[in-house]
Amino acid sequence: MDVTDAPLGMLAELTHRCPLHCPYCSNPLELLGRDRELGTEAWESVFAQARALGVLQVNLSGGEPLARRDLPELVGAAAGHGCYVSLTTSGLGLTAARLAELVERGLAHVQLSVQAAEADTADRIAGTRAHAHKLTAAELITGAGLPLTVNAVLHRDNHDQIDGIIALAERMGADRLELANTQYYGWAWRNRGALMPTREQLARAEPVVRAAVDRLRGRMEIGYVLADYHEEFPKPCMSGWGARQFTVAPDGVVLPCPAASVITGLELESVRDRPLAEIWYESASFNAYRGEEWMQEPCRSCERRTADFGGCRCQAFLLTGDAAATDPVCRRSPDRGLVDLALEAPPRTGYAMRGPR
Ligand code: SF4
Ligand code: FES
Repeated sequence: MDVTDAPLGMLAELTHRCPLHCPYCSNPLELLGRDRELGTEAWESVFAQARALGVLQVNLSGGEPLARRDLPELVGAAAGHGCYVSLTTSGLGLTAARLAELVERGLAHVQLSVQAAEADTADRIAGTRAHAHKLTAAELITGAGLPLTVNAVLHRDNHDQIDGIIALAERMGADRLELANTQYYGWAWRNRGALMPTREQLARAEPVVRAAVDRLRGRMEIGYVLADYHEEFPKPCMSGWGARQFTVAPDGVVLPCPAASVITGLELESVRDRPLAEIWYESASFNAYRGEEWMQEPCRSCERRTADFGGCRCQAFLLTGDAAATDPVCRRSPDRGLVDLALEAPPRTGYAMRGPR
């Protein structure tokens, strides 16, 4: 087996509770209730273990992490160990007082989601009146002197507003904008037919993004996450399975990637039962797709395998039922037809809003 390095990053999914109902939500179909969430002390222990393991960056996410009353304590615990602490939020529930407390405890960065450029579309996609809160949240965040990343998940319903989303992020004072085409995991998987952008939309977006990258260089960085179904080769998902980062779900289950609970048969383990370091280095789930031993042809003998690691295990599982298969996005995959079929399917209208928790 290859030598395993220490992880650099941790995604702490503090809760699945969320005031939004986005149809592209990548959290699992079955959300965990508050009664299953780790308590404050358990999270504090996770952060201590993570830092001892080598983690330098902690991203507090959810659901909506602001739904946790103990968020300041959790920020303080992670920052207290010397980690760079980032908060991923919808902005709902963020007040000047709450933000000041988080900053005082060591919060270093905020990623704020937006659903569209125009309020009507954005609120329809969020399933609630959220857009105005986001404008206020952005003011609070930049006013507090924190670096701000704006994240917009792109899909058929908002792709045509991409220019407006870029302008919105500029107005918000973002240091970075992430334009992320929807990845089809969790709830988004069931809405795939309705969320899939058209080829025309993607073709139109490309020069718009390229021009914005040039125009805003030095002021606002722009990251563009490709719509990988439309590509010829897969993304190097997670920079390799169990290679650099891990996720801790609200109930303490440790995942090699945020979507990994979809892979049935993966023996996932919890920080409630086993030290984090043992899970990272020794668990069956983290070792399942590390290195190259597990690869099948065509990946096994492909020259790209050290660059893309055979693509995404969760996508391979969702599309083929075999998590060790070549990601069917790859044009060399014998299952590429499954992706082409999805691309050629007549677009579905209407999507199911994310269910409540
Ligand atoms: Fe990547 Fe495997 Fe496709 Fe080669 S065959 S490009 S390693 S996914
Ligand atoms: Fe799980 Fe790609 S999302 S490996």
